[in-house]
Amino acid sequence: MPEPVPPAPGSSADDPGRGISRRGLLGLAAAGGVGAVAGIAAGAAVVGAGRPESGSGAAARYDFYGPHQAGITTPAQDRLHFAAFDLAAGATRDELASLLADWTDAAARMTQGLEVGETGAVGGSPYAPPQDTGEALGLPASGLTITFGFGPSLFETADGVDRFGIADRRPPALQALPRFTGDALVPERSGGDLCVQACADDPQVAVHAIRNLSRIAFGRASLRWSQLGFGRTSSTSTSQVTPRNLFGFKDGTANLKAEERSAVDEHVWVSDADGPAWMVGGSYLVARRIRMIIESWDRVQLSEQEDLVGRTKGEGGPMSGGAEFTALNLSATAADGSPAIARNAHVRLAHPDLNDGIRLLRRGYNFVDGNDALGRLDAGLFFLSFQKDPARFVTVQRSLARDGLNEYLKHVGSAVFAIPPGAAEGGSIGDGLFA
Ligand code: HEM
Repeated sequence: MPEPVPPAPGSSADDPGRGISRRGLLGLAAAGGVGAVAGIAAGAAVVGAGRPESGSGAAARYDFYGPHQAGITTPAQDRLHFAAFDLAAGATRDELASLLADWTDAAARMTQGLEVGETGAVGGSPYAPPQDTGEALGLPASGLTITFGFGPSLFETADGVDRFGIADRRPPALQALPRFTGDALVPERSGGDLCVQACADDPQVAVHAIRNLSRIAFGRASLRWSQLGFGRTSSTSTSQVTPRNLFGFKDGTANLKAEERSAVDEHVWVSDADGPAWMVGGSYLVARRIRMIIESWDRVQLSEQEDLVGRTKGEGGPMSGGAEFTALNLSATAADGSPAIARNAHVRLAHPDLNDGIRLLRRGYNFVDGNDALGRLDAGLFFLSFQKDPARFVTVQRSLARDGLNEYLKHVGSAVFAIPPGAAEGGSIGDGLFA
């Protein structure tokens, strides 16, 4: 089923029914004062995170507030700007709390297509730097979601220092990831006290979000690393067409989809039984910057590529037969008696049957960040997965130690974050940390 064609950015500027631009919302706010803006946010809250209040693509607008943060089960947008931050040396508990409050306020506005701050990009004093950097003026919300997370180091540094008096709030599940076979991690691309995942259908809107949140953090936290992504590598909704990764294969076919409500509850959201209480409704995010050695991959014959993945390249059907969404038959054999889905095939080793029934909600993106000194593209998959316990990712990643694809992959960045539940209107992300 083809996806709806989004209107050109800005084309819905004055049509609140289909998506509102920053300029359009400013007009509304001016006409009705703060109440008008609050009314828009409250209206959107009824819809809840993960479903657009209106429109699709560039016109989509997701509520920021709700029981879960948006940007997890939300249909994966086309573009990503992901950023990890470290708190400034000497930053205080109050500064951490005020940063989260300021980020919440700014994120709630930007996701609704509003400028940051009451005076925005051009409405303030000509003698002060504007509150909003301005590059998203006139662009609609573009399905922007902003998802915040807390790294293990926020609770306790590697040498055991509890900088913000929150070590006792650390969820037991939030442990640094172990070292995996083949890891070639670069510290400058790994870890972080805080993370912000900004996804949108317009790259300028996603970049605007991270830029403004960085600006707001100035003096309290600074960027540690960031990653741009294009072309989602997963579907998170049955309404989406399965995209392709840079190996040219459909990716996301067997992914956990938002419509599978009970499976999402079972595999993604932290429940009362999981705890701690302040994380209920939240999740855990694993980020892995996986470089693809695509120059080598491109010399591999088609049938071998398909054997390594375990699916056909065209249709994306299992090598055990059938169409894209046919279930894998892991015990099927080929004419020569060998397994139809090879023993080292990616989909076999990642399948729930080999991993205690674990399903991850994958939400990654393709990236190309120029090239290296040997003229090879610095390209790959920025893998993102949400799960109710990072140990679940560890189980699957350990199983992938035997993955035939590893010859063409190099994991160079890694991070894990606790994703708190969504903020209630009037509250802030991570309120539970300080309660
Ligand atoms: C660059 C690295 C990777 C590539 C190119 C890749 C590619 C693919 C492809 C083409 C599929 C089949 C389509 C689908 O069902 O989505 C797939 C499935 C899957 N992948 Fe990956 N993947 C990568 C890394 C990972 C990692 C790091 C994990 C988790 C640790 C993972 C977990 C899964 C899972 C759980 C499935 C579904 C298996 C099933 O139930 O059939 N993948 N991947």
